[in-house]
Amino acid sequence: MSDERLRLAIQKSGRLSDGSFELLKSCGLTISRGRDKLYGRVQEMPIDVMLLRDDDIPAFVADNACDIGIVGQNVFEEELLSGIHDTPANEVMELGFARCRLMLAAPKEWSFDGATMLAGKRIATSYPALTKAWLEAESVDSKVVMMKGSVEVAPRLKIADAVCDIVSTGATLDANGLKPVATVFESQAILIRNALKFSPEKQAIFDALLKRINGVLRSRD
Ligand code: PRP
Ligand code: ZN
Ligand code: MG
Repeated sequence: MSDERLRLAIQKSGRLSDGSFELLKSCGLTISRGRDKLYGRVQEMPIDVMLLRDDDIPAFVADNACDIGIVGQNVFEEELLSGIHDTPANEVMELGFARCRLMLAAPKEWSFDGATMLAGKRIATSYPALTKAWLEAESVDSKVVMMKGSVEVAPRLKIADAVCDIVSTGATLDANGLKPVATVFESQAILIRNALKFSPEKQAIFDALLKRINGVLRSRD
């Protein structure tokens, strides 16, 4: 018998994390972990769970610190576009939860009539690569201001004129006097894997997990 275990990265806490735990639960998997611990263990299968910040998951999987991960497509795509890793992780499948949009949003009083309105403006975002790619495709020249969080306050603080941020219900934008004006990227949770070939033992665990996930997703349709 092999003692090989599959290393799975999921978000420690946040919107993605609830859906990730739910998916594993629906797969018939229970994770034993102490509160605030970085690691968990799946009881029913040889899988170790690493609990991380979502933004760190693509790099952990690319660098082979984890074999697979559940992450937002937006976070994964941003990492791909930023070109940090020579051999990035690969997307395996869409998981159908944590759907959201990366959207450009402007002050409510703007009468927005197209992307050209953003020319020469400063746009605050945590997704500079995705935002720049969209602006380039629209042939608009704007200044992208990187912010790690609280992006929605940037226009009020006059750090930026508009924002490009994740919108789920739209409540955050609304509360900050902003309105969505264009969709930059449609996102949902995805499963990613390290680009290297797994050992036969690891591949077998991965295949068994995929089978369970596919079963759950089919029953949700
Ligand atoms: C996003 C975004 C807003 C919020 C919008 O954050 O930055 O804060 O969700 O949601 P709403 O439209 O339902 O109000 P996220 O949950 O991705 O967390 P993070 O920015 O801390 O990673
Ligand atoms: Zn995050
Ligand atoms: Mg946020």
